[in-house]
Amino acid sequence: MKSSKTVYVCRECDYQSAKWLGRCPQCEAWNSFEEETYAAPPKTASAARRTAGGESERAVLFKDFSVPEYLRRKTGIGELDRVLGGGIVEGSVVLFAGEPGIGKSTLLMQLCGKIGDSTKALYVSGEESKAQLKMRADRLGISGSSLYVLTETSIERILAEYDRVKPELMIVDSIQTVTADGVASASGSVTQVRECASMLIGRAKADGASVVIVGHVNKEGGIAGPKVLEHMVDAVIYFEGERSLPHRVVRAVKNRFGSTNEIGVFEMTEKGLEQVANPSAMLLEGRPVGVSGSCAACVMEGSRPLIAEIQALVTPTVFPSPRRTANGIDYNRMCLLLAVLEKRLGLKFSACDVYLNVIGGMRLDEPAIDAAACLAMISSLRDIPIPDDLISFGELGLSGEFRSVASAEQRVSEAFRLGFTKIALPKRCASKLTLPDAGVELIPMNGIYDALRIFKSDGN
Ligand code: TYD
Ligand code: MG
Repeated sequence: MKSSKTVYVCRECDYQSAKWLGRCPQCEAWNSFEEETYAAPPKTASAARRTAGGESERAVLFKDFSVPEYLRRKTGIGELDRVLGGGIVEGSVVLFAGEPGIGKSTLLMQLCGKIGDSTKALYVSGEESKAQLKMRADRLGISGSSLYVLTETSIERILAEYDRVKPELMIVDSIQTVTADGVASASGSVTQVRECASMLIGRAKADGASVVIVGHVNKEGGIAGPKVLEHMVDAVIYFEGERSLPHRVVRAVKNRFGSTNEIGVFEMTEKGLEQVANPSAMLLEGRPVGVSGSCAACVMEGSRPLIAEIQALVTPTVFPSPRRTANGIDYNRMCLLLAVLEKRLGLKFSACDVYLNVIGGMRLDEPAIDAAACLAMISSLRDIPIPDDLISFGELGLSGEFRSVASAEQRVSEAFRLGFTKIALPKRCASKLTLPDAGVELIPMNGIYDALRIFKSDGN
């Protein structure tokens, strides 16, 4: 038998090297190498499974193939069902990722309580003791009459218990704490995570059980462990939010059984995570009235329109190079918008510090926020408030033109529902719109020049 051997593996692309490298020659990622130790020649479980099974897949004539009926189990938590595309699919593997303390274990424990007594669930924790799990369950009001818990980190023993209990839903909290016998490296390393995940996935596919894997995130915000983990699972769900703020956004970044980009909004309370039925109203709570530098924006998060407040603060700079800070909006996007405003409108942002913030710790990546971000920055620069009942959306082009965005009608009706009656939007969106009410006033904008009308019509 060969003695153990040390190799360095790239977290991003699995490239192996005998010595540590600062940059991966294959995928060019920096600082991505981790030390791994193989005990014996790496005969991995996935390789063993391939040979042990004996039977190989046959090619089928595609026209004779009918899609099997996917059975979805409703989780009993509406916001989570929305993100999962209507429930958790039998035989699927879902990866839940998020920062420590954000609420992953809490939500999954709630899921075990809500999924119903008809579904047998097994909660495997490698991080907490049974007493800690029980205390949390009591606090969440979960009786758990069909819930089994196991505190174990060996994947072989976890699967043995799985075979004994035969649950329909298994939760492994977290993949970074479990280890496989054949792999000598420490728990949480690239090889361990890959190997344990592939064993869990193999079992889920073979038995039709739903498996939920919890994944930690590293300091860059990516999922710790190999990049292939995200490719291996059927759905990847991220928890977002500031730990200091009560609300949490659960977002599907990959979903083989539903549309991605859907979000679910929760609020952390003393009784666990509670669903927020009306997130726009929550995000607008406590909005200042008649103050410059604030503008409401309407973005689409999957199929749902969401209204958020964007605030800008523009002050004369005392630094040689002005400060720019963006929170909840891409920093480069903000710089691009400032450059367009400077060039097309001649506004002197170059002599000012600019701070841009989306209220409530939300992260908005849709280009439709451009219009509201520009209005907020112009409003702060000139110190002229935007009317409180005005909302804006639209993408800004480099020539200063507003480009149309999708789902204008849904955005307008959500804005109207929340009491906004003036809607500044790209002209092309305005022309094909049916208004939800006669009291809604549209302000069509061809380009950024038209946005200035908003400040003039206010009588300032
Ligand atoms: P947890 O689910 O343990 O986070 P994760 O598994 O993502 O690391 O959540 C821990 C935080 O949630 C902790 O700081 C306390 C808070 N919390 C509540 O506010 N209310 C509750 O009912 C529970 C169970 C936790
Ligand atoms: Mg946890």
